[in-house]
Amino acid sequence: MKISYNVNKNGFYGDFGGAFVPEMMHANIEELKSKYIKISSEKSFVKEFDELLKNYVGRPTPLYFAERLSNKYKTKIYLKREDLCHTGAHKINNTIGQILLAKKLGKNRIIAETGAGQHGVATATVCALMGVKCIIYMGEVDITRQAPNVARMKMLGAEVRPAICGSKTLKDATNEAIRDWINNPIDTHYIIGSVVGPHPYPDMVARFQSVIGNEVKNQLKKIEGNENPNYVIACVGGGSNAAGIFYPYLDNKKVKIICVEAAGKGIDSGESAATSVLGKEGIIHGSKTLLMQTADGQITEPYSISAGLDYPGIGPMHANLYRSGRGQFISIDDKDAMEWGLNLSRMEGIIPAIETSHAFAVLDKIKFLKDDIIVFNCSGRGDKDLGTYIDYFKL
Ligand SMILES: Cc1ncc(COP(=O)(O)O)c(C=O)c1O
Repeated sequence: MKISYNVNKNGFYGDFGGAFVPEMMHANIEELKSKYIKISSEKSFVKEFDELLKNYVGRPTPLYFAERLSNKYKTKIYLKREDLCHTGAHKINNTIGQILLAKKLGKNRIIAETGAGQHGVATATVCALMGVKCIIYMGEVDITRQAPNVARMKMLGAEVRPAICGSKTLKDATNEAIRDWINNPIDTHYIIGSVVGPHPYPDMVARFQSVIGNEVKNQLKKIEGNENPNYVIACVGGGSNAAGIFYPYLDNKKVKIICVEAAGKGIDSGESAATSVLGKEGIIHGSKTLLMQTADGQITEPYSISAGLDYPGIGPMHANLYRSGRGQFISIDDKDAMEWGLNLSRMEGIIPAIETSHAFAVLDKIKFLKDDIIVFNCSGRGDKDLGTYIDYFKL
């Protein structure tokens, strides 16, 4: 039997996934589960989604051949320019899909969690576009380190509510959003920002993000005469930009998949977010996945210099890619990621988000062949991180 790395009909990727939710959330999850594929496949939905992606987000994003990087590393390097999307990252693809879905479900209040603020900005943006009330939960630590994005959310009319528990980062913001949803089950839709959470979220978000990989296929076919690169590489926080670019290649083993996680101050430092390597099976935010935890099952506080990778779990698709060996996982520490922020800026004139910088550091870890075609998902731009870059490099 042919193995598939995509979701099965029960919402699992191998051993991982499912919907482990409290009773109070059950009705909302069931409603989504029974309707998301039907609604998002309707002709009118597809038309509106495609039109907004084209005229509002600016898709298709370019597939850019990075000549100087390619010459230096003696291989063929392409960048999928999600940093050029409206609002500066891939996150908007998913929020456009989910706001259209929320409208069809008759929901008029939107909540979301955010780490780096990119998903918060993307959610605030689509809520402004549709004239819907928007509340964003964000860890207090992230509110400080991603201040420009907090200002953008407020400018867009969203209310930003701080999460003040735990590490005061993404995990804690997600907890607050779930609590809100449990208290407001009727009028509210929760726009989760990554391929995490209970089924159907991981699959729903992956489908909305799959536009990235589908475009790469068409673009490579035109440029190289071959729709299959040798490698696709992406950073993994929850895993949505990675899922989006991997999507059409998941079951095509000619294409190697590389997931890049944040090692923070080092895998063994106790301050890391290298979830696959350090994680054990457990349940977080309604999904069975790999997650960093103590021997008695308490979640370990994650750490990364990048707010968007600072999460103690990964999506169930990625947990399965790790366990099955379909994906290669590499952890990059803060120092190497920050250096690559500078490298990409100075070699290609592209200032990446710190999350994105992690992916490029793979170039110093793996020796690629001359004829290899490598596609990096350039998931976001670095504007939101200028403060961190300025402090780190004393610019
Ligand atoms: C630019 C950018 N890349 C990557 C990520 C990580 O998220 P994901 O793994 O869902 O793509 C984030 C999260 O905020 C981000 O802002």
